[in-house]
Amino acid sequence: MEIINNVTDNVIKKAARALKEGQLVAFPTETVYGLGADASNEKAVSRIFSVKGRPTDHPLIVHISSINQLDKWAIDIPDYAIKLARIFWPGPLTLILKRSELAGEYITGSQESVGIRVPFQRIALQLLAEFEYLGGAGIAAPSANRFGAVSPTNANDVNDEIGTYLSSNDFILDGGQCQVGVESTIIDCSGESPNILRPGAITSEIISATTGLNISKIFEKNVTRASGNLDSHYSPKAKVILDVNANPGEGFIAMADVPTPVGAIRLASPSTVEQYAKELYKALRLCDKKNLKKVIAIQPNGGGLAIAIRDRLSKSASSN
Ligand code: TXA
Ligand code: MG
Repeated sequence: MEIINNVTDNVIKKAARALKEGQLVAFPTETVYGLGADASNEKAVSRIFSVKGRPTDHPLIVHISSINQLDKWAIDIPDYAIKLARIFWPGPLTLILKRSELAGEYITGSQESVGIRVPFQRIALQLLAEFEYLGGAGIAAPSANRFGAVSPTNANDVNDEIGTYLSSNDFILDGGQCQVGVESTIIDCSGESPNILRPGAITSEIISATTGLNISKIFEKNVTRASGNLDSHYSPKAKVILDVNANPGEGFIAMADVPTPVGAIRLASPSTVEQYAKELYKALRLCDKKNLKKVIAIQPNGGGLAIAIRDRLSKSASSN
């Protein structure tokens, strides 16, 4: 396996060919890095599960280059889902739709629905376009971390997570630091109106303001198998504790205006919630690199991306 720092057109072509041949390619998206395989190749997809150590009943998101590919993967698509796709793709939004025959049970964890997204990232979009040019229909890609661990937001973190599980013909494409830093918003489009299963950068406020759609948030109730509904998720080795005072020697993550408690080790000081989201996973990884046993995170207040940050933090805290 090679980490490729200079992702030229030629590299994209090679990586797309590797995918077609059944290899794995880790690639950047605007949210987090994904571990990609040809979504119509069952054997290639099964390698994703073994590299991640992920149970096979946990469904994968299929990435496509544009809304034009949607009909391959989903059927009976409601009008409101088309509206969401038209407005927010490419972007950090995953739609859960009724699966087509192409979306095999090995992708959907035997559910009748499939998750689809068009990422907003140059390398990801070029890779998808080239892969489709070679006859591919979509790239299945979960976050490129071991199951339950923190999602990687740069290529070195991908290598730290799964490098030893990849083979010599697989690729890691380096696209620098991810812009958003937390995973896409997941919207279940199987009902009369959309339901947010996992909060992300596309918030319910943004959706209702731009589409006029009535949107409900069911992520707090944990009703479907969306990300983080299992106990151990987004978790560093260090124990994550929320909203308490840090003791000397403990890690500390908070907005810049929150002072560092005496003796605590500051791991991030974001001045906006956007920056908090972008730095959160890196800060959680840093505690493990520094061998800290505990990290205290002070959650950001308010709506918008703060909701996604609190969602991930509460899951990483509940699992230890
Ligand atoms: O931002 C993202 O969405 C990133 C990048 C790489 O695109 N991907 C990502 O994938 O976060 P993953 O597999 O780590 O998380 C996707 C979550 C899974 O936990 C899965 O449970 C949920 O999406 N999901 C996928 N298909 C689903 C379905 N048919 N029904 C309900 N949940 C689904
Ligand atoms: Mg994940």
